[in-house]
Amino acid sequence: MATVSFSSPASFAGDNSGALTSATSAAAAAEVGAIPNAKLAQPSAAALAERALLGSDASLAVHAGERLGRRIATDAITTPVVNTSAYWFSSSQELIDFKEGRHASFEYGRYGNPTTEALEKKMSALEKAESTVFVASGMYASVAMLSTLVPAGGHIVTTTDLYRKTRIYMETELPKRGITMTVIRPADMDALQDALDNNNVSLFFTETPTNPFLRCIDIELVSNMCHNKGALLCIDSTFASPINQKALTLGADIVVHSATKYIAGHNDVIGGCISGRDELVSKVRIYHHVVGGVLNPNASYLILRGMKTLHLRVQCQNSTALRMAQFLEEHPKIARVYYPGLPSHPEHHIAKSQMTGFGGVVSFEVDGDFDSTRKFIDSVKIPYHAPSFGGCESIIDQPAIMSYWDSKEQRDIYGIKDNLIRFSIGVEDFEDLKNDIVQALNKI
Ligand SMILES: Cc1ncc(COP(=O)(O)O)c(C=O)c1O
Repeated sequence: MATVSFSSPASFAGDNSGALTSATSAAAAAEVGAIPNAKLAQPSAAALAERALLGSDASLAVHAGERLGRRIATDAITTPVVNTSAYWFSSSQELIDFKEGRHASFEYGRYGNPTTEALEKKMSALEKAESTVFVASGMYASVAMLSTLVPAGGHIVTTTDLYRKTRIYMETELPKRGITMTVIRPADMDALQDALDNNNVSLFFTETPTNPFLRCIDIELVSNMCHNKGALLCIDSTFASPINQKALTLGADIVVHSATKYIAGHNDVIGGCISGRDELVSKVRIYHHVVGGVLNPNASYLILRGMKTLHLRVQCQNSTALRMAQFLEEHPKIARVYYPGLPSHPEHHIAKSQMTGFGGVVSFEVDGDFDSTRKFIDSVKIPYHAPSFGGCESIIDQPAIMSYWDSKEQRDIYGIKDNLIRFSIGVEDFEDLKNDIVQALNKI
């Protein structure tokens, strides 16, 4: 029986693995014919050809991972959803060949899936990453990354403004592995340097922009600071999306996303991903293959489909959000607007230099108390009153209720005022959204 050679053994472990040598590809094609609809892993030459052909985010978002050398042989334009929990072997010899790295298979659904693999390739192309692993949620992406890249007894640095559940995980779970933490204010580079000088820091984890105040961290600067001390830099780039910010090209070692937000973009699926150098991502992948947290293939398909319009959606959201932020800043019933695209934002200069758009979320404080803010939220008619952000449908919430209702103390510590609103702009028309906001503000 013909056998297949791989540049790395045993499994399709990532974007760069499982590449077939061209000399063996014909024989391999004959062999894989035993598996209905199976095609060979993308040769690395095809991956290179794809990146040469698709020169921009717009083309990458639509075609990367799918147009050339997709694993599944079919003339369908779209990548099929492969609903399987395991992959079969035609003989014991084929299984032995697989174990010894001569035959390609995912073997088991926890170790990989062709639909998910296409998604991972698309994400790598957009983030300019060597490799990406997709997982079941954004939270699990951070958990898998921290579990893998921060050793027991290590030290991490993070920022005050942070998705609350990420902070809760860091505060409650990391100490169980003896991991300690320094929390700095987003702009306090002296505090970061101090933490790096006085601890054996494994990793600096920060969102940029942050949740919910959209603070921006200078990725190039902090990556140099971290690397001088042998620490890794992980950026949670969820609020930017790979369209607005490419953190790896600015010096980050790892990028995580809640794919639930802009990447999937339709408020209909939960997912997360970790992108970076293959050397780091493969460590996370090995952990993930043991622990689980697998993205369902149907969810992979929804995200893959959503990503085809990522650049269009994000460009639309960038432009509507900027107009909305400018409009709100001038409105007499608005006390303060937080949006990195406004000159009044404390890190506008950083956002301008490292982002190509400022994102679709605008946070602001109504000129009023808890009850008037609540009345405003209850009066808007187009945005849904819900958690989450980044999707086609606009979403609005009052963080004092939605995310921090259980803890007045935490609200005070993190500056979550009763009148704070987080407004995620969808792809609706600006004038319709503005008119809706105006009528709701007129009610208070
Ligand atoms: C910045 C950020 N990172 C991570 C997450 C967690 O993602 P998920 O809800 O997909 O688990 C969120 C969720 O809102 C978030 O805002």
